[in-house]
Amino acid sequence: MAMAQPANDTGAAAPRPQFTLPSRCYTDPDIFNAELQRIFRKSWQIAGNAPDVAEPGTFLTCNIVGQDIAVVRGRDGTLRAFYNVCQHRGHRLMTGKGNLKVTITCPYHAWAYGLDGRLRGAPNAENVPGFDADRVSLVPVIVEEVGNLVMVNLDVDALDFDTAFPNVRDELAAFAPRLGETAFHHRCTAELDCNWKVAIENYSECYHCRHAHPSLTTNLLNPDVYDVHLHDRHMRHHSGPAAGGISLYQIDNAISPHAQELSSWILWPNLALQVNPGTNFVVFQFLPNGVDRTIAHVDWYFGPWVETAERDRIIEDHRATTLQEDIDLVANVQIGLGNDGYDRGVLMVDASPARRPDTASIPSPIMQDLWRDAMGEAFARTF
Ligand code: FES
Ligand SMILES: [Fe+2]
Repeated sequence: MAMAQPANDTGAAAPRPQFTLPSRCYTDPDIFNAELQRIFRKSWQIAGNAPDVAEPGTFLTCNIVGQDIAVVRGRDGTLRAFYNVCQHRGHRLMTGKGNLKVTITCPYHAWAYGLDGRLRGAPNAENVPGFDADRVSLVPVIVEEVGNLVMVNLDVDALDFDTAFPNVRDELAAFAPRLGETAFHHRCTAELDCNWKVAIENYSECYHCRHAHPSLTTNLLNPDVYDVHLHDRHMRHHSGPAAGGISLYQIDNAISPHAQELSSWILWPNLALQVNPGTNFVVFQFLPNGVDRTIAHVDWYFGPWVETAERDRIIEDHRATTLQEDIDLVANVQIGLGNDGYDRGVLMVDASPARRPDTASIPSPIMQDLWRDAMGEAFARTF
């Protein structure tokens, strides 16, 4: 949007607001396809749960923006990840999760790979002139364990997790010392009728919380004691205890010095690691599934101190209130982004000394800069 920049009385340029990305960024299939290549195949994504690959020989598989990936724990204890495809004729190697015996054996012609990805044997290979098994191996992917999560990055040149997201591990450990005792309990999946950026922007801005999430802002967090810390590729939200206390469930204050508080680490481009009061751990993934479709996985992890009936009540309350409210909000935003009566909106960046993060679009400029950086010169010039 071209806007004249008026001068004030002193001749200096008057401050001008910041704007959202043009709506085409949320509706154009070409931009969406470029995002898959330039953003999602170069960022840290969640492959699964670390306990599933704790023992030598165990594996899990996942799909990262259309790419089948396998994560394998070697006999040497090293965790490795590979594109899940045989180097012979391209058959998928592993499905689901489980335990490998000695090798990764392809179901098609029985090529056998070691758990380090190197080819160990191929039937009748000795009779094929020039065949060199030593030159064949699965194609590696970067993998790391982060708490109870396994994370992968398809970009071999990617920054390691701690460089990309400094101090996140330490802050999680300090905020929730018993986080390591939590274990996966349940996945809620929602199909969002919106572009992935609408979903993560909605998650990362509490500007809408007070108005749109009465249960969240009454029962779980306190919008009057809320702050946002911005970093290069991530941000942290933090809320003090809910004003009336946590009414939905019991909390043992011995679990953590921050047992009554909520904090969330939002990792570029589409993940959030959220610790709810009581050290209930919730992992949000917003996975692109088309230019106007996003799969939201909400994974719940609980410590042994939370009884099953209480876990289910907590999850159901979230599903019926905040999650459903957000499902409706983002769908209606996507409809509006396709409306010719809209192109760009003002980002409500609060510049006051006592800025109120819960009433402003604080994170969006950071996310938009990351988006422009990732999308490169051609797109940056356009927007
Ligand atoms: S495709 Fe895997 S052994 Fe032939
Ligand atoms: Fe929301």
